[in-house]
Amino acid sequence: MKIDPFRLERWLLEKAEIDLGGGGVAKLQLKDVVPQIPPDTAMRYGRTNGSDALRGLVADWYKVDSDNVLITSGTSEANLLVNLTLIESGVEYFTEVPQYEQTTAFARMLGAKVKPFHLIEAKGWTPDLKELKEKINRRTRIIFLDNPNNPTGAVMTQEEMQALCELAEDVGAYVHCDNALRGSEADGKPAATPEFYERGIITGSISKLGATSPRIGWIVAEKEIIERCWVMKDYTTLSHCGIGEKIAERLLANRARYVKRNMAIRQANVDTWNAWCKENPDLVTCTDPQGGFTVFPRYKNRLGSSKFSERLLKEEGVMVSPGDQFGVERHLRINIGTKGETLGKGLERMGRFMKRVVK
Ligand SMILES: Cc1ncc(COP(=O)(O)O)c(C=O)c1O
Repeated sequence: MKIDPFRLERWLLEKAEIDLGGGGVAKLQLKDVVPQIPPDTAMRYGRTNGSDALRGLVADWYKVDSDNVLITSGTSEANLLVNLTLIESGVEYFTEVPQYEQTTAFARMLGAKVKPFHLIEAKGWTPDLKELKEKINRRTRIIFLDNPNNPTGAVMTQEEMQALCELAEDVGAYVHCDNALRGSEADGKPAATPEFYERGIITGSISKLGATSPRIGWIVAEKEIIERCWVMKDYTTLSHCGIGEKIAERLLANRARYVKRNMAIRQANVDTWNAWCKENPDLVTCTDPQGGFTVFPRYKNRLGSSKFSERLLKEEGVMVSPGDQFGVERHLRINIGTKGETLGKGLERMGRFMKRVVK
């Protein structure tokens, strides 16, 4: 089996003086969540589907039963397990574009025919359900989307999610919603997820709450799907990180506090971003992100987005992520979850660069 390198994740490893390339929020410190891990904590596997306590906390967030939850090593493993469980060679797999490309690369590797449906930029990156309806058929196994969307920050409404699930039901397809950005919605309400649809599958994690290193995520789905993914997990990682599980339990039990902290960072940066856009109307066009920790402006320049990002890094020391790594050219993903000072400095330098190279 062959898989293409994950260009975005390799790009993010480049060294940068000012890093605006990522998609998350400034990270919490261990002491913010677990002031002290007792030194006699045994370093053992826990239950391979997750502790009762953690599954209960996730179930509570989604208003489902614990039986509908499987704990995984991040959203990354959750997405892998869903694909390993549901994809066989030759099935069709529809993905929204733009999106974070991890899941689609796996689908392609497993032999699925990966096809796009688009988010319409002129309509605030809303999904083109007409396009989806025209393209899907009985061979369609999965319809995949991120909600909130990475990179645009668009949030699909409940009505759109309902309509999308009805289309999926007509052809017997699963709807897989990557919900890694839950808790980052500007209006404070969880973005729509397909838990009401019997073939709806949700994946997520604590990473975008500010804790990437514990590597704790989940799948929320019908019990039968959870059981099948759990069978698969016995062969992938067997167990997620046991110490990470303890951290995740504390974090989710006090979720409101961390969401409040993250949203304060986000809001201050949205204000900085909007002010910069106002001062530089000739450089970018953009929409207001309703969720997530990134903005995704279209820039006015003839450089392709990878070339643009490489030159910006080399000439100004600022890292942003190129739009072509999300399937859309002439856009940049800029992190608004970082420290305010970093964003301010980065935008100043980006503005200087753009004025120099805009032709
Ligand atoms: C939409 C989305 N899904 C999944 C992931 C992977 O996250 P993790 O495995 O840390 O939960 C990311 C990370 O940036 C993401 O943005």
